[in-house]
Amino acid sequence: MSWSTLRLACLLGVVPSLVYAAPAVTPLPSYVTQFAPLSHLDSTEVYFPADVANHLTHVQPEEDMSAIASSVTFSTIGSLSSDVFLTSKDTVEDIQNVASWLNGVKPESTGLTSAPATIVAVQKAGGIVDAFYFYFYSYDHATYLGLQFGDHVGDWEHSMVRFVNGVPQDIYLSAHDGGSAYTYSALPSQNGRAITYIANGTHANYASPGSHQHDLPGLDDQTDAGSIWDVTLNFRGYWFDNSTQTFTVASGAGTGGSVEAGEGVGWLNFAGRWGDEQYDLFHEGQYCVTSDECKYVSGPTGPIAKNLGRTAVCQDESSCTIQTSV
Ligand SMILES: *[C@@H]1O[C@H](CO)[C@@H](O)[C@H](O)[C@H]1NC(C)=O
Ligand SMILES: *[C@@H]1O[C@H](CO)[C@@H](O)[C@H](O)[C@H]1NC(C)=O
Repeated sequence: MSWSTLRLACLLGVVPSLVYAAPAVTPLPSYVTQFAPLSHLDSTEVYFPADVANHLTHVQPEEDMSAIASSVTFSTIGSLSSDVFLTSKDTVEDIQNVASWLNGVKPESTGLTSAPATIVAVQKAGGIVDAFYFYFYSYDHATYLGLQFGDHVGDWEHSMVRFVNGVPQDIYLSAHDGGSAYTYSALPSQNGRAITYIANGTHANYASPGSHQHDLPGLDDQTDAGSIWDVTLNFRGYWFDNSTQTFTVASGAGTGGSVEAGEGVGWLNFAGRWGDEQYDLFHEGQYCVTSDECKYVSGPTGPIAKNLGRTAVCQDESSCTIQTSV
């Protein structure tokens, strides 16, 4: 367009919308928040939801236990290899004195916490939209029979609601290496929103309060109706295109919604670990009862590694039973 036609167009009021157009953001469908689960943290929880942005300021990227950079940001994380462990700059062992950033932020009585959740929606064939509600914590602390097993820096858990033509059909709740699936209506609800329970310390997700055995007998998770975390009040929202494996910014809410466009989506492509690599046996405080049942284990992978493109409702598609009652 020449300057004279541009001037003319401006006079006619045509161009400003072109010149000032912000990048197109496709908001998340309203049903994604309308039917977002409401989650009870445990009443004795001390490791609350954490903001990914804050977590990044306390870790450095390491490979084979040595730093490859002294810091990591939203602009550098996307280019890190999947071998990277985002490792705490603070010594985690002295748990009594650990920095408070590991403790996250307890939700207020309204369900709002200043730590934004992450919601990722994925469109699939057959009128399906899978909405992944990701819960991030800076620390996972697990006590069993007075011993700690499976502690790690960084903790990603999720629930997923499968919508068919905008109607919530099924829900998946992640717990440790697996999880459970239910019809959406099987769960108790409040104003149409499913209620879920987050286990003390391990943050595994369950459909009921009480004791939940996992892995070995004696390794129980505890849930109760402690503080409510309403992720819709503060979240970063994204779309994930499974055919191109790309994330784009969608709409969010609260501080998450206001910061996400500036942060970009590179962090969601990081395929490495969000915490320290499992310490060896010589590391102060480490103990193991088997080769993989240790006090300290490696931090987890993030949303990209949680099978966002799943066809079945469960993360592990090889066995997925959708229960019709809790
Ligand atoms: C919950 O976990 C914290 C440490 O993470 C622990 O101090 C507390 O005793 C646990 N609550 C119960 C009921 O076991
Ligand atoms: C997502 O992509 C993966 C890899 O290309 C493919 O195996 C999977 O079937 C896709 N999922 C859906 C729901 O189309």
